[in-house]
Amino acid sequence: MLSADALARIDREIAKYPPEWRRSAVMAALVIAQEEKKWLAPETLEFVAQYLGMPPVAVYEVATFYGMYDLAPVGRYKLSICTCLPCGLQGALAAADRLRERLGIGFGETTRDGLFTLKESECMGACASAPVLLVNDKRMLEGMTPERIDALLEELRRK
Ligand code: FES
Repeated sequence: MLSADALARIDREIAKYPPEWRRSAVMAALVIAQEEKKWLAPETLEFVAQYLGMPPVAVYEVATFYGMYDLAPVGRYKLSICTCLPCGLQGALAAADRLRERLGIGFGETTRDGLFTLKESECMGACASAPVLLVNDKRMLEGMTPERIDALLEELRRK
């Protein structure tokens, strides 16, 4: 179900915990599985559950609680914008409007060309730098004014 390389990475995460707590590696295992599969299909969640020796429902609970896990296919660039109150008071709603307008999609949707998926995110712990946006769960961008959003979309489209 997952490659030998992915399993080796998961094994390294499991090794960080006592043998009876291998399930503690579930978040890392899901990240690794998602990196390989691009999204977490039900069969991938089942596989992770089996590999870690935990009930599938417990893996589903983790995967559905955290916004970084994708339970449906996403575009090449997943843009997650924080719309919580502190960011909302500092321009995040205008930034979200700009993203929706420029991409022609709403939250949870993917552009027809498969390039962008737009997601609404909870606090990323960078409230002072609002509006805050995350590209593919890894690249955090701060101070995302509408102008900077336009520049980002142009940059990603050129890649
Ligand atoms: Fe947006 Fe904290 S409220 S990063």
